[in-house]
Amino acid sequence: MNIYICVGSSCHIKGSYDIIQLMKEAIAEHQLEDKITLSAAFCLGRCTDGVSVKINDDIVCGVSRESFPEFFKINVLTRI
Ligand code: FES
Repeated sequence: MNIYICVGSSCHIKGSYDIIQLMKEAIAEHQLEDKITLSAAFCLGRCTDGVSVKINDDIVCGVSRESFPEFFKINVLTRI
């Protein structure tokens, strides 16, 4: 699974780096290092809805610290 976290300026302001950190922690916690490639991406074209995350070919918007656990469960754990 390829995961790209947008670090474009709009998403950056909304906390991309927090999401990258949470993602790294969640990947380690679930021992998914071999199954997930995590990268930063430039603007995914959904700036008003950031933080935007692309998972394989799907873009999920509005990821925040608060919504991260639910986001990870639905979009990563159930699809890996
Ligand atoms: S800056 Fe993230 S979608 Fe544009």
